[in-house]
Amino acid sequence: MKRPIRKAVIPAAGLGTRFLPAAKAVPKEMLPILDTPTIQYVVEEAVESGIEYVVLVTGRGKGAIEDHFDIAYELEHTLEMRGKTDLLSKMRAIAERGSLISIRQKQALGLGHAVLTARGVVDDEESFAVLLGDDIYDAEVPATRQLMDAHEKTGRGAISLMEVPREQTNKYGIVSGRKREDGVFEIEALVEKPDPKNAPSNLAIVGRYVLPGKVFKLIAETPPGHGGEIQLTDALQGLADDEGLVGVVCKGVRHDAGDKLGWLRANLVYALKDEELKEPLLSTMREMLEEHK
Ligand code: G1P
Repeated sequence: MKRPIRKAVIPAAGLGTRFLPAAKAVPKEMLPILDTPTIQYVVEEAVESGIEYVVLVTGRGKGAIEDHFDIAYELEHTLEMRGKTDLLSKMRAIAERGSLISIRQKQALGLGHAVLTARGVVDDEESFAVLLGDDIYDAEVPATRQLMDAHEKTGRGAISLMEVPREQTNKYGIVSGRKREDGVFEIEALVEKPDPKNAPSNLAIVGRYVLPGKVFKLIAETPPGHGGEIQLTDALQGLADDEGLVGVVCKGVRHDAGDKLGWLRANLVYALKDEELKEPLLSTMREMLEEHK
């Protein structure tokens, strides 16, 4: 019988150079969108998709992420004494989110290598999810759940896709495929960060994967690719060739929190959903628009 998907791997070992100096002593995954660290949105998506174990692949200086999901007795005590019950239950809920397993990627050899680090915690016989922290999905049905459903339906690995402007293909893994049904593709080829003139399409991989454990063997056999790194995208070509791989254009809005403009935009979108912030923010934005006309 097929084993249910219980584990998600979240690579969080990147240096965050795009967010220096903020990311020098604070892991970039802890930078907030409004008042919540980006990693928390990602862990919540995994848990809401039915994942029980979150495997964090970390590196040097990432301890704050583990602390964030731990119980903070002193803080809870202070909040209790001050009668801040709302905040207290928010804090407790964070610590109760799924079980966190943390492992270290000792060398930054690429995304494929980061996922391979989880081999053993996730075994070769079970399917698992991968969530990249730079991509935040705002979706009614969590994007990971949408991929898990596609995996259950097709029996194949599933990756999330999004159309991107042609000139941006060099920022993403790009795929080509045959349409299976609306928003679902049978993947044929995958290329990591191709120049727009060589890109097989404008369908980009956007940070969510549900993969069979077999992919570990494929990653282990993958030579360094784009940027001299071991690329997950390259290993997935083997999977597509051997047993098929589907691409799903997930429903919902995706924010690129790994990019300054994308991160700023996500902050604005989430602030506009906040009843207290919405009106004052809109009037500030109106003033700014007026000033910069
Ligand atoms: C990674 C993947 C790439 C994917 C992208 C966005 O690249 O290697 O295939 O399209 O995430 O999710 P990164 O942005 O980490 O360089």
